Amino acid sequence: MSSSFRSNLNRKTKTTTIKERSRFLLSKMLSMIHCLCYIYMMIMANCLTAGVLAISHTNISTDQSALLSLKAHITSDPQNILTANWSSASNSNICNWVGVSCGAGHHRVTDLNLSHMGLAGVIPPHLGNLSFLVELGLENNSFHGPLPQELSRLRRLKEINFGNNSFMGTIPSWFGSFAKLQTIKLYGNGFSGFIPATIFNLSALETIDLGRNQLSGSIPREIGNLTMVKGIYLDDNKFEELPNEMGSLVQLEELFVQSNALTASALVPVFNISSLTILNLYGNNMSGSLPDNICEHLSSIRIFNFSGNQLDGLIPSKLWQCKELREILLYSNNFRGSIPKSLGNLTYLTKISLGENHLTGNKFGGIS
Ligand SMILES: *[C@@H]1O[C@H](CO)[C@@H](O)[C@H](O)[C@H]1NC(C)=O
Ligand SMILES: *[C@@H]1O[C@H](CO)[C@@H](O)[C@H](O)[C@H]1NC(C)=O
Ligand SMILES: *[C@@H]1O[C@H](CO)[C@@H](O)[C@H](O)[C@H]1NC(C)=O
Ligand SMILES: *[C@@H]1O[C@H](CO)[C@@H](O)[C@H](O)[C@H]1NC(C)=O
Ligand SMILES: *[C@@H]1O[C@H](CO)[C@@H](O)[C@H](O)[C@H]1NC(C)=O
Ligand SMILES: *[C@@H]1O[C@H](CO)[C@@H](O)[C@H](O)[C@H]1NC(C)=O
Ligand SMILES: *[C@@H]1O[C@H](CO)[C@@H](O)[C@H](O)[C@H]1NC(C)=O
Ligand SMILES: *[C@@H]1O[C@H](CO)[C@@H](O)[C@H](O)[C@H]1NC(C)=O
Ligand SMILES: *[C@@H]1O[C@H](CO)[C@@H](O)[C@H](O)[C@H]1NC(C)=O
Ligand SMILES: *[C@@H]1O[C@H](CO)[C@@H](O)[C@H](O)[C@H]1NC(C)=O
Ligand SMILES: *[C@@H]1O[C@H](CO)[C@@H](O)[C@H](O)[C@H]1NC(C)=O
Ligand SMILES: *[C@@H]1O[C@H](CO)[C@@H](O)[C@H](O)[C@H]1NC(C)=O
Repeated sequence: MSSSFRSNLNRKTKTTTIKERSRFLLSKMLSMIHCLCYIYMMIMANCLTAGVLAISHTNISTDQSALLSLKAHITSDPQNILTANWSSASNSNICNWVGVSCGAGHHRVTDLNLSHMGLAGVIPPHLGNLSFLVELGLENNSFHGPLPQELSRLRRLKEINFGNNSFMGTIPSWFGSFAKLQTIKLYGNGFSGFIPATIFNLSALETIDLGRNQLSGSIPREIGNLTMVKGIYLDDNKFEELPNEMGSLVQLEELFVQSNALTASALVPVFNISSLTILNLYGNNMSGSLPDNICEHLSSIRIFNFSGNQLDGLIPSKLWQCKELREILLYSNNFRGSIPKSLGNLTYLTKISLGENHLTGNKFGGIS
């Protein structure tokens, strides 16, 4: 456009004086600016109408067709729950359907909870049209197949529970787009590969449960960004390391990484998390000894479970400084030496399990 304008200008200005020429140029430029402004306004107007249309075009009917699409993708409904209840009649009020809840004001679907119904099937892309959805619960069913990327449009989601289903493959990186997500439960599926670092972009996350999958590798350093997280459950996977950045999870209360392939270096960051109450690392491949000052930062710890590793050395003599301790589970390791008598002044202690080690001397109050 600009080059044809320029050649046009050249042809026309051959016979004009310099004064006329500059006046011509000025008016041409003004009309060009006008023209550009007009184009810009047209584009803006189009954008605005498109925006308004998009909003006015999604209504309760959109939600209904999304749910009916889901129903059409259910291959097994042993208790006839959706079959009987989710009516396709156009006057059926979907807000009364089993497992569906709507917002009080806007009457759009906010909760979809089909947990424990024995359903099998795949998730259709249409589900991504439930744009007011806050909770999506499919726990303990037999949903399988890929998760459609259209789900990433559910920007209001605060809770996703796909626990105990048959989803496979890698965890999609677009999980990072749920800016308001507080709870994510993908436990008990067949997810494999690495955890995508984008998941740790979810700054509102409080609970992350990826237990009982086939996940492996290192846990991304970005996990240290989850400053709101209170519970991390990664049990029964194949993780090998916990990154040092976990030391900055100042609200973390429960960390479950039992039955993985963690090595000794996993212990370095966790001893810094002063909010921890339960630390469960049993059944890993951790070796080396526990530091004597283990309690220095762990002032809230209630349960240590380090059973089933290859830890050695002495039981830390300053363990009595973890005043809140209820359970000390060091069963099946290579600890040696004697049991520190000072453990006797842990007021809340109810359980101590030290069997299958190389400990000497008096058994502690008849406890194995
Ligand atoms: C929803 O929007 C569609 C398309 O604009 C319209 O045909 C339909 O009647 C609307 N439904 C309701 C319940 O408002
Ligand atoms: C669907 O189930 C809900 C809640 O159990 C009930 O109120 C409603 O009447 C049922 N609708 C149909 C068509 O069965
Ligand atoms: C979903 O429904 C089940 C019972 O079917 C219930 O136990 C669970 O708390 C519900 N989840 C949510 C998030 O409402
Ligand atoms: C989970 O689903 C299985 C199989 O359908 C069922 O036996 C079990 O009772 C369910 N668990 C819960 C807590 O509903
Ligand atoms: C809903 O989603 C599907 C698939 O993503 C799409 O084809 C459809 O046009 C969307 N809109 C409505 C109003 O159903
Ligand atoms: C998930 O499945 C396991 C094993 O089948 C079962 O023990 C557990 O109760 C299920 N959890 C829920 C919440 O249904
Ligand atoms: C990370 O979060 C920001 C803000 O919530 C968002 O704009 C961005 O798209 C997210 N990045 C990824 C990779 O999901
Ligand atoms: C997330 O963590 C990485 C690595 O620890 C860091 O470089 C990045 O700045 C963090 N991002 C946000 C949004 O905090
Ligand atoms: C643990 O805390 C100490 C002192 O507060 C600090 O020097 C060290 O770098 C921290 N280590 C990790 C892995 O966060
Ligand atoms: C545990 O670690 C040792 C060496 O550190 C290695 O030889 C062994 O294969 C590991 N075992 C498992 C189950 O990862
Ligand atoms: C601790 O580890 C043992 C295995 O030695 C396991 O059976 C038990 O359930 C664990 N206890 C807790 C409270 O996690
Ligand atoms: C607990 O035992 C240690 C070591 O024997 C001792 O120094 C400490 O004063 C005791 N604490 C209490 C509250 O008795």
